Amino acid sequence: MLRPQFARDQVAHVQALEPHIKVLAKHIKYSKGSTFDLQKLMFQLTVDTSTEFLFGESVHSLYSESIGLPPPNDIDGRNEFADSFNTAQHYLASRAYSQFMYFLINPKEFRDVTAVVHKVARYYVNRALKFSPEELEEKSKDGYVFLYELAKQTKDKKVLQDQLLNILVAGRDTTAGLLSFTFYELARNPDVFNKLRKEIEENFGVGEDADLSLITFESLKKCEYLKCVLNEILRLYPSVPINFRVATKDTVLPRGGGKENNEPLYVSKGTTVAYAAYVTHRLPEYYGKDADDFKPDRWINPPKLGWAYVPFNGGPRICLGQQFALTEASYVVVRLLQLFSKLDSKDEGPYPPRKMVHLTMCHQEGVFVQME
Ligand code: HEM
Repeated sequence: MLRPQFARDQVAHVQALEPHIKVLAKHIKYSKGSTFDLQKLMFQLTVDTSTEFLFGESVHSLYSESIGLPPPNDIDGRNEFADSFNTAQHYLASRAYSQFMYFLINPKEFRDVTAVVHKVARYYVNRALKFSPEELEEKSKDGYVFLYELAKQTKDKKVLQDQLLNILVAGRDTTAGLLSFTFYELARNPDVFNKLRKEIEENFGVGEDADLSLITFESLKKCEYLKCVLNEILRLYPSVPINFRVATKDTVLPRGGGKENNEPLYVSKGTTVAYAAYVTHRLPEYYGKDADDFKPDRWINPPKLGWAYVPFNGGPRICLGQQFALTEASYVVVRLLQLFSKLDSKDEGPYPPRKMVHLTMCHQEGVFVQME
């Protein structure tokens, strides 16, 4: 049911991102060269773009009195949606890590924020279900909306609401993490920033009146250095750093047993096997002695990596939104580098940075930068 929703045509409409970029850029301009937390803005940006793609209408969390755009409060719960969604995920991660004891973590705050998230999702589902088949067809002409396409396949309220939130969880924080870590490293590495900006200038121009029609799904894919930068960020900072699988039958893993951990390892049915892409992505046996260093150039002619590089996982449950995420992240990077020529790190924490991991990974403190 979900896979067709991620076909090329659906993910190719980068222009839908532009109104949100304009609001983001307004925030940055209002900072007037002083220090601000870019990660916070990236999380707002991705909740705005995801809700537009999924619900058919953005929650506009970037709208703020501070930039002369009062937040819309026409839908009950809309203004609290982004914060509630963040808090709910913290609890969900603790519940996931607690496995069969998950039900012990159920405080009032968790129930309250979950109620807000569900209320907003329910509002959109009910609205979509009121549309006739003709109205749904008509709406699809204005641009792709996940909920409307799904509503053509099923009218089951619970399925629709669950799938909306499923994709929101899968797609929002992951992309926000990728973008935040990208700007964190670009701010610390002026040589990489300049090389990337040069590629962007050559392909799309820079400045306020750059021709936006040049930025397409296809032209973004041709930006080789941009791809190197994003690959390297997802290597060092995979958005899903820890994951697990549960054995559905008695089985044997090829390695991991014995004194040297290199003999077969028996895993009985029902056992949880956790694994960390974060660790694999930094192993010198695959990435060399400089495995911990940020070096986008290593992706110019990479060796065959197979399962040593799994930011989107692999096999039958590989990320459905990979193209969508890379296209969105590429567009945001291109547009911000077109509009801002100066990006300085104001991070005072240690390197590598302290990370916060719940279901996904982000900076513990934030990404503090100056941009002009
Ligand atoms: C940088 C951005 C992203 C990263 C690093 C990422 C990573 C991943 C990973 C590691 C998984 C596998 C989880 C598992 O099986 O345990 C996954 C699954 C998934 N992702 Fe993404 N993701 C990203 C963005 C997105 C976006 C933007 C969407 C949708 C708009 C999306 C939709 C999905 C879906 C639907 C699945 C479940 C697939 C299945 O179970 O069959 N992802 N993603």
